[in-house]
Amino acid sequence: MSVSVPRHSQVLIVEDKPSLASVYRAHLEKAGFLCELAASQPIADAHIENSHFDAVILSLDLGGPDIASLVSAWSAKAPSASIIAVAANASINDAVDAVRAGAWDYLVKPLSRNRLVTTVTNACSLPEQQPRESVAEVSRLKPDTQGTMIGSSKAMAETRKQIEAIASSSAPAFITGESGTGKELCAQAIHDFSARANQPFIALNCGAIPHDLMESEIFGHLKGAFTGAISDREGAAAAADGGTLFLDEICEMDASLQIKLLRFLQTGTIQPVGSTHTRKVNIRIICATNRTPQTEVAEGRFREDLYFRLHVLPINLKPLRERGRDVLELASRFLSTYSGEEARAFNRFDKDALDRLLAYHWPGNIRELQNVIRQAVVLHDADVLESHMLPDHLVTAQDTHHSPATARTGRHLWQIERDAIETAIASFAGSIPKAADALGISPSTIYRKRESWAEKTA
Ligand SMILES: Nc1ncnc2c1ncn2[C@@H]1O[C@H](COP(=O)(O)OP(=O)(O)O)[C@@H](O)[C@H]1O
Ligand SMILES: [Mg+2]
Repeated sequence: MSVSVPRHSQVLIVEDKPSLASVYRAHLEKAGFLCELAASQPIADAHIENSHFDAVILSLDLGGPDIASLVSAWSAKAPSASIIAVAANASINDAVDAVRAGAWDYLVKPLSRNRLVTTVTNACSLPEQQPRESVAEVSRLKPDTQGTMIGSSKAMAETRKQIEAIASSSAPAFITGESGTGKELCAQAIHDFSARANQPFIALNCGAIPHDLMESEIFGHLKGAFTGAISDREGAAAAADGGTLFLDEICEMDASLQIKLLRFLQTGTIQPVGSTHTRKVNIRIICATNRTPQTEVAEGRFREDLYFRLHVLPINLKPLRERGRDVLELASRFLSTYSGEEARAFNRFDKDALDRLLAYHWPGNIRELQNVIRQAVVLHDADVLESHMLPDHLVTAQDTHHSPATARTGRHLWQIERDAIETAIASFAGSIPKAADALGISPSTIYRKRESWAEKTA
């Protein structure tokens, strides 16, 4: 055979029949793979928990576990491992379920040596944009970001590339994205990858500080400069000298301060309120907004000259609903973190819960996901987080999911349409653009419809 095997690829063989397991192992080791055997699900769980695998061969005749939830849980736990389901003729439906739940491919017994080795080879040498590539991408970055910015989607891989590229410059970076998409985390990552990493990172939220105090927050003040200025105070810009100043919600900054910020960007000098002296500082500016800055400029709320000064290196963060299976990776991480913090036993989600998480549209993005998981963890305790433990709005949005047959049972047309659309979204792992494409409508139609369903069910 002439396929080239990625070197040292690790394969976990989950098969309860020792004779079959050793045949698979012999074929694969001969082809250059490193193999581990697991004769039961708990053993496989432990392997997946503790080691890295590029591929997992999962016999569907294992018995016991619900295959789809097993596949979902494993793909969330080990996004870099491609799962290959192995079915007997009788269990082909399970194989299809496994693929829907995230398995990479399936094979039907009896397996020829050729078929097995080719499939595993392909699974271990995924092309770009597949999860494995983006995990490799992260590991080239500093190890701490691998732990903080979770997600193997194409969108996240792209974001990581942009962060790396932007970090090496000192020009202003401008982050856009809906609330909760990780703008602050992204700003911190840009700083962490930059040459300024050992210098301060100072974040200031322009929307949270009263307008009349904002100037002093940024530039500092002298004692007596205004009522309440009881002593000299260094501002954020001076504190960030040598490092990065992150101006969050920049579009909330009022007009008079926009001029002062522009002056600062032009001269690189700061002047504390009440002072006649200026001081030169060396700061990298990163700003962020959940608005569309071009609209703010067009409508006269944001100075155009300031916009051009700041909008040098743009980076846009995709909403969570467009990041495919990232939601499962994030949910698993939050489940384990919060279970630890709240002393709960949760270690996985059931299949229905995973489906709900994938199908929901997450208007509040990752922050909303954190809140949903934390709430479920605080209010319940079990090994498995089941869908009924999730907040009602996640569950009811999806009630009749997967059952086109109920389309004839006297429901309103909008409910039937909603089910068709939500089912399509779920089957594209939460991707609205892909679902829209498959249904021959535009993504904005789906967003609009979802808003109207939300009103109907409110
Ligand atoms: N890719 C990610 N991986 C893990 N946690 C994330 C990710 N993106 C965002 N978060 C978390 O979600 C929350 C919201 O992120 P934040 O950066 O404050 O969003 P924004 O500034 O866009 O509103 C934070 O707790 C952040 O740590
Ligand atoms: Mg923020």
